[in-house]
Amino acid sequence: MKPIIYYLGAVALTLASCTKEADTIIEVVKEPEAGLQAQLQIVPSPEIATDYREQWRPQIHFTPRQNWINDPNGMVYADGTWHLYYQYNPSGQNWGNMSWGHATSPDLFHWTEQPVALLPDELGYIYSGSAVVDKNNSAGFGAGALVAIYTAHGVNEQQCIAYSTDGGMTFTKYEGNPVIKNTSHGDYRDPKVFWSDDYGCWYMIFALGGEHSAQIWKSDNLKEWKLCSTFSVGSYVGCNQGVWECTDMFTLDYKGEKKYVVTVNVSGGFPNGGGSGTMYFVGSFDGRRFIADRYSYPLWQELGLDNYASVTWSNTGDRRICIGWMNNQLYSGNYPCSPWRSSMTLPRELSLVEYEGIPLLRNVIAPEIECIAGEWRAASPALGIADAYQLEVPVSLSSDCVITLGNAAGDEYEVKVDATNRRLIIDRGGRTGSYSAREFPLTNVCGSLNTTADEVVLEFYVDQSSVEITTADGSLCMSTLVFPATIYDRLNIEGQNLSPKVRDLSRIW
Ligand code: FRU
Repeated sequence: MKPIIYYLGAVALTLASCTKEADTIIEVVKEPEAGLQAQLQIVPSPEIATDYREQWRPQIHFTPRQNWINDPNGMVYADGTWHLYYQYNPSGQNWGNMSWGHATSPDLFHWTEQPVALLPDELGYIYSGSAVVDKNNSAGFGAGALVAIYTAHGVNEQQCIAYSTDGGMTFTKYEGNPVIKNTSHGDYRDPKVFWSDDYGCWYMIFALGGEHSAQIWKSDNLKEWKLCSTFSVGSYVGCNQGVWECTDMFTLDYKGEKKYVVTVNVSGGFPNGGGSGTMYFVGSFDGRRFIADRYSYPLWQELGLDNYASVTWSNTGDRRICIGWMNNQLYSGNYPCSPWRSSMTLPRELSLVEYEGIPLLRNVIAPEIECIAGEWRAASPALGIADAYQLEVPVSLSSDCVITLGNAAGDEYEVKVDATNRRLIIDRGGRTGSYSAREFPLTNVCGSLNTTADEVVLEFYVDQSSVEITTADGSLCMSTLVFPATIYDRLNIEGQNLSPKVRDLSRIW
């Protein structure tokens, strides 16, 4: 993986181990006076007409009308609206000019793109981060203000805040930024803030990428922060192969006990293909330190190839709902679509259950999917679908079987149920369709089914350029990008006599 070097005013910046190709569209309209004082003006690209029907345009996943996106940012549920901000280049289809784009939804599935919410400034690009509802006006920006917490990526990466008093549509950057300064660490980014009822204060966790660690800070007012501790897992070698990014921390019930979960997105070292993925750690938090319980880490949130930078929404009560960037740092710069580049995954709801002595982080597609779902019907080899669909296949684990999705062009997506080893093996190789990166094709993407039952129900969520597979109870989840000539609309099953069902998922645009 090669480092990217890009320029902001007179200062060269590097982003280690990232393969997103950089745009060089930053325009410096004023020479830096002292230090990094460049005023940046980003020229938005002219709006391209679209009916959201281009080849490979996802029909049930969020994509921007046009241009580059990566990580989901600042997800917060407020006043009945799901906010999804995201890393966005307002002026091009390559990574660059990092800003926060914005979309809103009443139901987690139908998204309306809103004006760009945060643009770069003299402190740097607006990198990933989170947002909270400040119900009690702890920061003094107003009761119920939405406060965004993000990394300003300039000469150094530093944590900043901005607030919105109009329901998340426009933000004012806090004049005291950065709220956490940094002059010594390289990668120091992606703050996730949450309110703790246990300790009556705000906490922030963020990643120290190359140092393979995360810092936890606390605050009463979102403006003044105190370092609590640094979390790392030095002895678990497999956790320290890439760059730590986009950390999250939340609670979940586990066998009747409240557990803290820390998730770490890591760019490098993923078991399938060696690219990027999301690790998780389960343990306890004493208000200062997160202590991971002893398990065989790394544990992975999912084993598909294309779910990165996954983090959870804030202000959702006991529900933990995450969404990820449906891509992989290995080849994200080669995403072949235009005028948009990349989509989000479907939203998922998380829970913890014990499986073979290990706390398994289960992912099920958020039940709000019912708002786009049609009636179930028996699935025949010609599926008879148009935009997107859900296919449900109950499979016996007493013998192997192979489930193949295909289309008239001969593209094939093959999923083998390896009953002996209780795992799925997905062939996301060259047969799936087009691809434009050497690292893209992988014929044996393996995922454990994590069940001792005799039968497992597989759910396939199929869109124009992706297949997400989960088991019905979420014990397995695998997301993969694919670029078939047309959506897979044929089904072939070998090895078992099964009774699959299918239902249409209606387009969200
Ligand atoms: C992850 C990431 C983050 C960073 C952002 C920059 O994909 O590298 O760590 O904030 O993307 O776009």
